[in-house]
Amino acid sequence: MRFDTRLVGTGHRHSISHVRPIDLSTTYHTPDPDVAARSMTDFATGAPTADNPIYARLFNPNGRDFEDRMTDLEGGADSVCFASGMAALSALLLDARNRGGHVVAVPPVYGGSHTLLESGLLGTEVTFASADAVRAAIRPETALVWVESPSNPLLGLTDIERLVEDAGGVPVAVDSTFGTPVLQNPIRHGAAFTMHSATKFIGGHGDAMGGVVTASSTEAAARLRQIRIATGALLHPLAAHTFSRGLQTLGVRVRAMQDNARALVSRLQDHPEVIDLRFPGLHAADDAIVRKQMAGPGTMFCLELEGGVRRADAFVAALEIAVPAVSLGSVDTLVQRPAALTHQLMGEEARQATGIPASLIRVSVGLEDVDDLWDDFTRAIGRSARSGWRADSREATARHIGPVPGSGVA
Ligand SMILES: Cc1ncc(COP(=O)(O)O)c(C=O)c1O
Repeated sequence: MRFDTRLVGTGHRHSISHVRPIDLSTTYHTPDPDVAARSMTDFATGAPTADNPIYARLFNPNGRDFEDRMTDLEGGADSVCFASGMAALSALLLDARNRGGHVVAVPPVYGGSHTLLESGLLGTEVTFASADAVRAAIRPETALVWVESPSNPLLGLTDIERLVEDAGGVPVAVDSTFGTPVLQNPIRHGAAFTMHSATKFIGGHGDAMGGVVTASSTEAAARLRQIRIATGALLHPLAAHTFSRGLQTLGVRVRAMQDNARALVSRLQDHPEVIDLRFPGLHAADDAIVRKQMAGPGTMFCLELEGGVRRADAFVAALEIAVPAVSLGSVDTLVQRPAALTHQLMGEEARQATGIPASLIRVSVGLEDVDDLWDDFTRAIGRSARSGWRADSREATARHIGPVPGSGVA
């Protein structure tokens, strides 16, 4: 079956219900002690299912349905779902701690991930290294290479196949939240793990939190499941149901939002007060990576306006259709300034080292009519120009914007 058919799914065939019922039980009847004891042993060894579910921290059918769908879509061996994207990363780090403890991470990454990695809270030690420097950063005790592609917030791309080669046998985990299962499947390029904050595109409507890791081996997934059972970072059945449903429309949502993003970026390129734009594939080197491992550039872009931080904040505040908010991948357009919000906690020094400008504005493009979004953006650019931002206009940098690749859309 082709990808879009698998996204929709072939229906809930094993019962009369068209939609899989949501199972909210926290405990299950255990009339047969032998079956119960055997099931307990199975779960303790990381098995995804057993004859008796026993207890919701060990198994839930809605969570398992979501995992099975993700395994199929990502081309992995098995998946494990979690209470949030950060819970998914935490499980990967706890697993890495048990296998040597050293992690090489390619910056930039989501601010929360950066802070967790840097803190060593879960017993890991991190070395931040650019993709080109990963080979040199690997040590005998390195247990994981962590990368986001496209990266949050800079939308930088990493050639996954090359990274896997440079990692030389160390498992590579790709946070593919911005890529979505529709646009890229890192395991097909050699990654050991693909991770998503399902809170974003997979849920798609800003009403459920969750995370999921797909592993290329059942053994690795079993280790993560054992960690989930031990730490209790469970995905709630209602959220699991929401994500399985979200997958059914993920293809149409991502492609329509991507068309809007292409159109907006293309128009903003000609706006005299936009001094920088970041969008996967905008520069030639990136474009080759988009073609190699993605089915399109995605729905996220960043812009900078003349006038620095104050202009950026005035712009975001002046938007009337796009929503000033963190998070991404929702049906509505969300706009925020990473240095103030999503990447604030990592600190100024780390942001500078990573190349995240204070005045960078991140946009998650939604499904609104693109002409309304364009009107909203140009109106907010105009209003913010009259808001006193010029006081710190020295922050403005040189204009360096290239053509929008593959953007037939106006
Ligand atoms: C790329 C990326 N990874 C991970 C996370 C964390 O996910 P969650 O908020 O679901 O814990 C985020 C959140 O913004 C993110 O953008």
